Amino acid sequence: MTRAFVAGMGTAVPDQIATNADFEARLDTSDEWIVERTGIRERRFAGPGETTATLAAAAGGAAIKDAGLVPDDIDLLVVATATPETTIPATAVYVQESLGLHCGAFDLGAACAGFVYGLVTASSFIVANNLDAILVVGAETLSRIVNPEDRSTAILFGDGAGAAVVRRTDGDTGLLSWDLGCDGSAAGLLGVDAGGSRIPTTRASVAAGQHWLHMDGREVFRRAVRVVVESSGKALARAGVTADDIDLFVPHQANVRIIEAAVSRLGIAPERVVTNIERYGNTSAASVPLALEEASPKDGDLVLLSGFGAGMTWASAVIRWGGA
Ligand code: ACO
Repeated sequence: MTRAFVAGMGTAVPDQIATNADFEARLDTSDEWIVERTGIRERRFAGPGETTATLAAAAGGAAIKDAGLVPDDIDLLVVATATPETTIPATAVYVQESLGLHCGAFDLGAACAGFVYGLVTASSFIVANNLDAILVVGAETLSRIVNPEDRSTAILFGDGAGAAVVRRTDGDTGLLSWDLGCDGSAAGLLGVDAGGSRIPTTRASVAAGQHWLHMDGREVFRRAVRVVVESSGKALARAGVTADDIDLFVPHQANVRIIEAAVSRLGIAPERVVTNIERYGNTSAASVPLALEEASPKDGDLVLLSGFGAGMTWASAVIRWGGA
């Protein structure tokens, strides 16, 4: 059976570290509150000259190398991001130019579920359209859309990128199953209101702070636990496996308490759960590939990925690690 497998991975994060102490120094917050409520100790912020596209290209180039390929081997580029380089054109075009790719390229918008949505999209192109090598990148510079004065969001988010080269195999490995979901009735819970068709950027929109990210954290939290559990459960069932079979669970890194609540309901052993939120915060579409690359699964490992975010959107996938 033809499937898509992850042939190589790469990541990129900015050098600049923002610690909880940095926030304590200028906002009404504390290291204790941030660690207890979120699990975050530090996050990376893009410096001058660093953008979503530069981070995406660095991660993408590393993934191509890790897969033992060269840019000309890539048949398609998918960039998942909620913080695009520009509104027009897509972030993917800058990444394509920077990496010297000669293939189609487009952005995918599914917020923090974007990378898993991207993997499923790539898998479908491989299975249905006979492509061989697709570069999927999750990249963000959330520091550019978060109000630095808003303690309820400023401490949560960070910048970075993670990428995977997805290739075809006719073996037993690869993407076994997936679940994609969306509940658009929750669109108002989390977002950036201005700068699009609904509220074009004006002096008034900027004065009202509508270009900053806003979030109803408590409600997002409640729904996040539910959708991670339900979506992961569907992906596991479709793969014909159970939580006991999972060697590595890589959830979206939004809040360590969301991860712990979902893991206990799913019945996955805590030592099989990958977390790096302590060092990167919530990097949205970059969070799953950053954690997956760090976990470096072994051939044969059964890996469960689950992302959720603005929309709300969510996506889960079960992968038997290893190649052709
Ligand atoms: N420091 C100190 N106090 C704070 C801070 C802070 N940084 N931020 C908020 N507080 C206060 C609040 O004002 C509130 O005070 P009050 O009780 O006097 O009103 C109190 O702390 C509790 O606030 P809650 O919002 O109830 O705190 P909660 O425990 O829910 O934690 C958090 C907030 C961390 C945002 C949590 O709700 C969360 O993680 N939500 C999910 C976020 C998420 O998963 N987003 C994912 C999608 S991201 C994307 O798609 C781009």
